[in-house]
Amino acid sequence: MEMEKQIQMQTLFVFVNVFVFSVYLVPTAQSHVSLVGDPGMQKDNLRVAFEAWNFCNEVGQEAPKMGSPRAADCFDLSGSSLTHKVTEADNKLGVGKPFPGLCSEDINNTDIYAVQKELYLGSLCEVKDTGSPWQFWMVMLKNGNYDTKSGLCPENGKIVPPFNPGRFPCFGEGCMNQPILCHQPTRLTDGTMRGGFSGSYDLDSGCGAEYHADRSYYEVIWEKKLNFGSWVFKHKLKTSKKYPWLMLYLRADATKGFSGGYHYDTRGMLKTLPESSNFKVRLSLDIKKGGGPKSQFYLIDMGSCWKNNGAPCDGDVLTDVTRYSEMIINPETPAWCSPTGQGNCPPFHITPDNRKIYRNDTANFPYSAYHYYCAPGNAQHLEQPVSTCDPYSNPQAQEIVQLLPHPIWSAYGYPTNKGDGWVGDARTWELDVGGLSSRLYFYQDPGTPPAKRIWTSLDTGTEIFVTQEDEVAEWTISDFDVILTQPHAESDL
Ligand SMILES: *[C@@H]1O[C@H](CO)[C@@H](O)[C@H](O)[C@H]1NC(C)=O
Ligand SMILES: *[C@@H]1O[C@H](CO)[C@@H](O)[C@H](O)[C@H]1NC(C)=O
Repeated sequence: MEMEKQIQMQTLFVFVNVFVFSVYLVPTAQSHVSLVGDPGMQKDNLRVAFEAWNFCNEVGQEAPKMGSPRAADCFDLSGSSLTHKVTEADNKLGVGKPFPGLCSEDINNTDIYAVQKELYLGSLCEVKDTGSPWQFWMVMLKNGNYDTKSGLCPENGKIVPPFNPGRFPCFGEGCMNQPILCHQPTRLTDGTMRGGFSGSYDLDSGCGAEYHADRSYYEVIWEKKLNFGSWVFKHKLKTSKKYPWLMLYLRADATKGFSGGYHYDTRGMLKTLPESSNFKVRLSLDIKKGGGPKSQFYLIDMGSCWKNNGAPCDGDVLTDVTRYSEMIINPETPAWCSPTGQGNCPPFHITPDNRKIYRNDTANFPYSAYHYYCAPGNAQHLEQPVSTCDPYSNPQAQEIVQLLPHPIWSAYGYPTNKGDGWVGDARTWELDVGGLSSRLYFYQDPGTPPAKRIWTSLDTGTEIFVTQEDEVAEWTISDFDVILTQPHAESDL
């Protein structure tokens, strides 16, 4: 059995090899300028970090002995030895412990401490590229439990008093905890470099133990052959009764400023920020296990932030609005947007040739191309009917446009049929994220100049949304790149 598998793997490697070469040898008319620090994940010198979030993208309380939930694995290769830039002591830094750059008044604040720790780890990992330094890919893990009696999460950015439970999963006090983090520092063995982050939200789990029947689990293992091909990031995510809503993404975030979903400075991989409409995202995705019917697998999730009057965000959580758009490729995800559920659709759809189709145009609106649209909770001029987004799960108001595979997206290289890119359909995608994102509806106050759609986060992974069953998702990501393309001809977008 093992032997057979190995031979299959070798065949696959040869195939992948030929495929990759043929792709790179095809002459392209367009200029290929990459916007990420490590185009296509090809550099041997790895830069990867880890962050964990509670329900409203903060820390709340650190897990015992784990330090602040930020860590990194960054190294340079010299000959056949890896020189690590981040020590295990750095990774274990937690409240109360000083480090360079941390103000002493912030030393006991778990939320600010994590932000500052990310900047510090960024400084250790930073690559001084021509003009624009960059730091790392970001593994992001989030626990969807919300203890409404904790008063920890604001409502659309406003501090609100605790309220009675019922609307969100929570097993009781402590349900918003941070996870156990086990780090396997990258090592080189037999020409392959390999390392990983893994752990559980169940604080009585140790390291080394993989799946326990009733425990939550996450794992990201990275692997690369020396001087060859792409890093392969292998992900696993398992929910449990106590932790029924979990998210795990691999993100390319901004190297400075606010990335999607943050109200604080971050570090990342996008050394130049892509702006709609002239950029593409290229990635290889192989989903081995889907994670059940509630697994909202995002082939691509883009995140940014601008105010309802079109101005860029400035950290004022009362007026900043996180904007997300996600292509969900789980074929079991239904379209909540429908002729009879127009409140779950954006007010209109724009076709690739820039025709506007209103959602009340039942003969033409592509209802099944939209899973769900929700508007910012702080918007003043919403068209009715409308659903507003969950006011608690981000530090500020948010707006979300969730897409489903549909022929209408074919012009952008996006999946067109249910099941495209899903389990058994591993692919290398080249997505015209810039073109599509320039035509998506996002709310703006009437009469205000259109926001510049600059994307501070591009990521892939799954959100397993409140499940009764323990679900497992497994997938690999490689070849990730964000590519600047020629400006589109249209100037009216
Ligand atoms: C942080 O906590 C420690 C231990 O409780 C305390 O001694 C110190 O004064 C605190 N620092 C600040 C700035 O609050
Ligand atoms: C459809 O919606 C648009 C935009 O809200 C509106 O102007 C138009 O009158 C509506 N058409 C019908 C037939 O209701």
